Amino acid sequence: MSDRYAIVLAAGQGTRMKSKLYKVLHRVCGKPMVQHVADNLKRLQADRILVVVGHGAEKVKQQLGSDIEYAMQEQQLGTAHAVLQVASHLQGKEGTTLVLSGDEPLISVETLETLIKVHEEKKAAVTILTRIMDNPTGYGRIVRGSDGSVQRIVEQKDASEEEKQIKEINTGTYCFDNKKLFESLQLVKNDNAQGEYYLTDVIEILKGMDESIAASITEEETVGVNDRIALAKAEKLMQERILLEHMKQGVTIIDPGSTYIETDVMIGSDTIIYPGTIIGTGCKIGEDCLIGPHTQIIRCEVGNGATIKHSVLTDSVVSNEATVGPFAYIRPGSQIGEGVKIGDFVEIKNTTLGKGSKVSHLTYLGDAEVGEGVNVGCGAVTVNYDGEKKFKTIIQDGAFIGCNVNLVAPVTVGMGAYVAAGSTITKDVPEESLAIARERQVNKENYVKKMKKKL
Ligand code: UD1
Ligand code: CA
Repeated sequence: MSDRYAIVLAAGQGTRMKSKLYKVLHRVCGKPMVQHVADNLKRLQADRILVVVGHGAEKVKQQLGSDIEYAMQEQQLGTAHAVLQVASHLQGKEGTTLVLSGDEPLISVETLETLIKVHEEKKAAVTILTRIMDNPTGYGRIVRGSDGSVQRIVEQKDASEEEKQIKEINTGTYCFDNKKLFESLQLVKNDNAQGEYYLTDVIEILKGMDESIAASITEEETVGVNDRIALAKAEKLMQERILLEHMKQGVTIIDPGSTYIETDVMIGSDTIIYPGTIIGTGCKIGEDCLIGPHTQIIRCEVGNGATIKHSVLTDSVVSNEATVGPFAYIRPGSQIGEGVKIGDFVEIKNTTLGKGSKVSHLTYLGDAEVGEGVNVGCGAVTVNYDGEKKFKTIIQDGAFIGCNVNLVAPVTVGMGAYVAAGSTITKDVPEESLAIARERQVNKENYVKKMKKKL
């Protein structure tokens, strides 16, 4: 097999996005578009991946990392000019070169494989990935001769009325014979409606050199994302694919229309996802979980058999059989142990909870280390912040924290100790002891009657 190269065009500003963010960095299902393209190319095992950067070059490089090569396009003079920036890396080499657009995140690895296969079978100089669209507006059109062979590509802005009727479009993805690509690129001119050097002109040039031009028509839905409308379309299409894949893997999604799962999420079989659930990229969810309704989980790991309802969780771990919610807020750095119960209106931040502990209602635990089998009553608060620094609270195994308790950190409640309801604890509580830190109750008998008489 000959060497396989890939060039990704990602230098444009993306004016039509009307955004401070460079176009290819806009996210589709949680991942920047250009990262989708790069990840696919890695899966294809391209020998070299070269990304043409310009606008926002540093940001794009930062996103894609150092296992990719970059070429700088100082001025964005068109897609042909962009590919030319890679000449010093690839010109004259034997091999096959894919050229892709950083704003086309939906073209799958399978489609790229088919494109390469067609290209190799037809021994073509170039094979264009094309698609038939009901509404082709905005895309370059594939002009075929009377014998059906591809003659050239005409851009929307340069097309005649007749050409605008053509429904076969250029997806902006091509497979080239590498040597011929760079030979023909030298000949591209900018005498067109936009005054740009179009990569699409290479087709007619190669045709003129008597080279064979092929097309691989894909049925896969693709979107070239130039504006926010296309971005939303791409989002929807990819979302559908992601949900289908999870369902195929044995996940029940009660209402796909109101469920939102980003890319690169793992979910075990027999987990049920209820409506209104959002699961962010990188999450791992175990088997037999009940997730939702109305739950947002961002960068978390959830074990098997966990239940999470009406809650928001970020950057945390929820262990097997734990239950969270309804209406809990699990903030970064938390580890919810096996079988732990987190109930309603509980906020947990940077806190570890050991096996079987319960925090059932209306409680804030921040910067705490809670052992196993601990019971935290209703309305307990770790007083972890003095306005400048954060301090740690330790609650050891089997301790029992009564209702409405303040634990003023740094403080430790020893193993098996009890803290009486309403206490404000400022000193460590030794193990197996009872701490009471509140005013004693005084009953003033008949006080009310006397007071009323006076008035
Ligand atoms: C391009 C194609 C069009 C095709 C469509 C598919 C050309 C001339 N037209 O049009 O036939 O139907 O894609 O989506 O190629 N870029 C650079 N440097 C530049 C110009 C562009 O790196 O100087 C990058 C952009 O960042 C973008 C990609 O190339 O990622 C495509 O450019 P764009 O301006 O979006 O082309 P389209 O008008 O969509
Ligand atoms: Ca585009």
